Amino acid sequence: MAAKQSPFNLDQFLVSRTEAVNRALDRFLPSEKTKPATIHKAMRYSLFAGGKRMRPAVLLAAAQACGGKEAAALPLACAVECIHTYSLIHDDLPAMDNDDFRRGKPTNHKVFGEGVAVLAGDALLTQAFEIAAQANGWPRYSHQDLILEIAKASGSLQLVGGQVADLEGENKKLSVAELRYIHERKTSALLCCSVRLGGMSANCTAAQLKALTDFGYNVGLAFQVIDDILDVTQTSEQLGKTAGKDVTAQKSTYPAIVGLEKSRKIAAQLTDKAFAALKIFQGRAVALEALAEFLLKRDK
Ligand code: IPE
Ligand code: IPE
Ligand code: MG
Ligand code: MG
Ligand code: MG
Repeated sequence: MAAKQSPFNLDQFLVSRTEAVNRALDRFLPSEKTKPATIHKAMRYSLFAGGKRMRPAVLLAAAQACGGKEAAALPLACAVECIHTYSLIHDDLPAMDNDDFRRGKPTNHKVFGEGVAVLAGDALLTQAFEIAAQANGWPRYSHQDLILEIAKASGSLQLVGGQVADLEGENKKLSVAELRYIHERKTSALLCCSVRLGGMSANCTAAQLKALTDFGYNVGLAFQVIDDILDVTQTSEQLGKTAGKDVTAQKSTYPAIVGLEKSRKIAAQLTDKAFAALKIFQGRAVALEALAEFLLKRDK
């Protein structure tokens, strides 16, 4: 009798992948005791504060969809999490969003001071490239391709550029197109890069990479629309960061511009587009499908 195919268990996937990523990050980063101890304590403080690890999760899920091995994808998963964590430390600084809580704890600068928080962000960004440099190249994707992928998603044309536009958009009423420009860069770029790196680490075909790019772009945009919604609808305890900050800081967000209901509709439409992109995997992208649904329905 043929074995009955069990339904995909996302909880189990997330627990096991988070553990694997945390173990690998712990190996890659200098210990807390390594001199100068303050910077290593500060880097580890934010990295191990309990983030959802969604960028590593989509990266490993994309690798799985393309038949790759987890070991090949793991350094890249660690690299994108280091970049994400650096971006949060800097995003929370008084000169940017001025937030006191992150991942359920006082923000990095509240504990270590602004100088060390700036440096902990710098060090995590640099650490990401040190880790990525240890990943292997593949027949279709050279080692240089992988590094370029990460550099482009993180630099002044993407993540940093989006953060600049986000700051410049405070106290202004932006159009939906201007807001999308910000979301594409500050959030979607790194998520999309994560999904693509997963595929690249599995030596995916050009058609698969295109599908993963469509998926990552749309899931990435939905991710920020939902982040904006949760800022309005959830409590600080639930989010592990101060809720309601976007209104106080007069940020341009989807709820502020088009209202909550329309924002929810937009997030669902983007997720539908992401699902549609996965067709070519013919059922082998179950982890990515489950993640897209989870991200749409998430409450933190
Ligand atoms: C928050 O990202 C910042 C955004 C880009 C919206 P996450 O919601 O993934 O934060 P963590 O990693 O779980 O803390
Ligand atoms: C953060 O956007 C984007 C980056 C850190 C690149 P937000 O400012 O909305 O993120 P939260 O709400 O502080 O997590
Ligand atoms: Mg911000
Ligand atoms: Mg912020
Ligand atoms: Mg936010």
